[in-house]
Amino acid sequence: MSRPSKHFLDIKDLDGEGLRGLLATSRAMKTKRAGRPRGEADGERLLDGRLLAMIFEKPSTRTRVSFDVAMRQLGGSTLILAAEDMQLGRGETISDTAKVLSRYVDAIMIRANSHRNLTELAEHATVPVINGLTDLSHPCQVMADLLTVEEKKGPIEAQTVAWTGDVSNVANSWIHAAARLGFELRLAFPEELAPDPKLVSWARECNARIHLTHDAQEAVSGADCVVTDTWVSMSVDEPGSRHNLLKPYQVNEALMARAKGDAIFLHCLPAHRGEEVTAEVIDGPRSVIFDEAENRLHIQKGILAWCLGGPM
Ligand code: CP
Ligand code: NVA
Repeated sequence: MSRPSKHFLDIKDLDGEGLRGLLATSRAMKTKRAGRPRGEADGERLLDGRLLAMIFEKPSTRTRVSFDVAMRQLGGSTLILAAEDMQLGRGETISDTAKVLSRYVDAIMIRANSHRNLTELAEHATVPVINGLTDLSHPCQVMADLLTVEEKKGPIEAQTVAWTGDVSNVANSWIHAAARLGFELRLAFPEELAPDPKLVSWARECNARIHLTHDAQEAVSGADCVVTDTWVSMSVDEPGSRHNLLKPYQVNEALMARAKGDAIFLHCLPAHRGEEVTAEVIDGPRSVIFDEAENRLHIQKGILAWCLGGPM
């Protein structure tokens, strides 16, 4: 019996209970896996014989490898497709691509240049579609970040998260998460690089506890988690004056000193030491970046299980 495709397009599409269930599944899968050889499939082979196609319109290290390893450990396999090697690169429509791939594979992950490409793919695919980053959001990343924060600090609802720097695709997904899970999110950014006002209004309508400021010190003061991202995302064609605008938002020791004594630092990676964060912070004792990167693998499993009918 077929069921409607369960796309994983954005954190805002799930409610708090759904997100907590996905986090719990991922956590359980991580615990079960501990100490096993990385190339060995799980005993249950939850996704035995299932095939995930991954379309990349932009580069990736973590998303590509974590989804690939997740599928193998769950007993499935992947096809990695560079968009420029497909007929997509010569003008074939996304809708035709979606319909064709849906006849071959069980799910499609896409890292897309524009969010519209993702939604169009999901509209026409008859298999689940997963957002592996667009210009507007990066939900798989923020799910891994939530898993990491909960491992280090306890329930997310009790945390104050401070974002400082460019309000990027990753920051947008943090806003979605704050609206759904109710934790306090403070965002510090230059006036010229403000978040989309529609997104902010939506979050406020959801009673999200979000605070916007142009003062990084104010945002970080007493925070449990400090998060930032590159100053020049892949979707930015011209950096222009970004570096100058964003300099006051750099995460350095002086800024971290404003956070709680046991605050942690997160970054989705890749990072630019000396720009959005200093080497002292990102390579220092409060940084959890490699646990965060590892958690991409565990959360991808929860997302795949959710999309493909795992134990939720
Ligand atoms: N954080 C992240 O998505 O990394 P990649 O660009 O390497 O996939
Ligand atoms: N905001 C960054 C995230 C990279 C994982 C970008 O879009 O390039």
